[in-house]
Amino acid sequence: MTTISLEGKTALVTGAATGIGRAIAVALAAAGAHIAVNHLGRAAEARQVVKEMAARGASAIEVEADVTKAAKVERMVNKVRDALGPIDILVNNAGVILEKPFLETTEEDWDFVVDTDLKAVFLCSRAVLPGMVERGSGVLINIASELGFLGRELYGPYCAAKAGVIGLTRAMAREFAPAIRVNAIAPGPINTPMLPLENMSAEVLERERAIPARRVGEPEEIAGTALFLASDLASFYYGQVLSPNGGAWMG
Ligand SMILES: NC(=O)c1ccc[n+]([C@@H]2O[C@H](COP(=O)([O-])OP(=O)(O)OC[C@H]3O[C@@H](n4cnc5c(N)ncnc54)[C@H](O)[C@@H]3O)[C@@H](O)[C@H]2O)c1
Repeated sequence: MTTISLEGKTALVTGAATGIGRAIAVALAAAGAHIAVNHLGRAAEARQVVKEMAARGASAIEVEADVTKAAKVERMVNKVRDALGPIDILVNNAGVILEKPFLETTEEDWDFVVDTDLKAVFLCSRAVLPGMVERGSGVLINIASELGFLGRELYGPYCAAKAGVIGLTRAMAREFAPAIRVNAIAPGPINTPMLPLENMSAEVLERERAIPARRVGEPEEIAGTALFLASDLASFYYGQVLSPNGGAWMG
């Protein structure tokens, strides 16, 4: 049997106090990685994640930083390096979503969504990559979305940003190969604070369940994909977009 070990590796997961990021951080820690749990204004939840990991013997820290701000990202990366050592794995997961008619979308709305969902991927990757290049190895995993392929009415900036994440993933994959592997995950509907099942209207719930899997996914079902991509099992994966999505999109 093949087991995944990330023993001795250090991973930074952005937006890891909740949802998919949290599940990814926990899965990487369970495989032996040291974990930096990035968050913005969610100290209590981030500390709880760190506590749970520490209880299982993992070394983990929480690090607050707004990933849309270059200086804060640089400071975060330095802090992680000082506390846990060089970063081997970066998971660009932090994100926001906005439902709004296109013609009511303001410049501020656009910047908020695109800065968080796309620019932050650029900023965090740019901060971490020099160390990876120097060491000749590293893994980047960018969390995109099925909506980056499909598009959806009322979600223009989000769809644009997530399509951008896919393009950026492929550009970086080509530029930093073969030493560094850059891949993306494009989840389908997942039960997280961004898409809480209990807040869904019957109509939305019906749409989200009208997929081959006939249900919304759980964060842990995305974490498995991230764990695979972070590991040597994915050693031949470059610029790929894996789609744990219950069959919603079969591209
Ligand atoms: N839930 C879904 O159905 C779904 C589907 C496809 C893709 N995704 C993507 O998965 C990722 C995680 O989302 P989730 O569903 O777990 O929701 P979530 O709201 O639980 O997670 C997003 C996290 O990002 C953090 N964040 C937001 N802005 C930030 C900033 N500027 N700096 C640092 N952290 C910031 C939030 O505080 C939150 O903890 C996002 O990129 C999202 O777009 C989610």
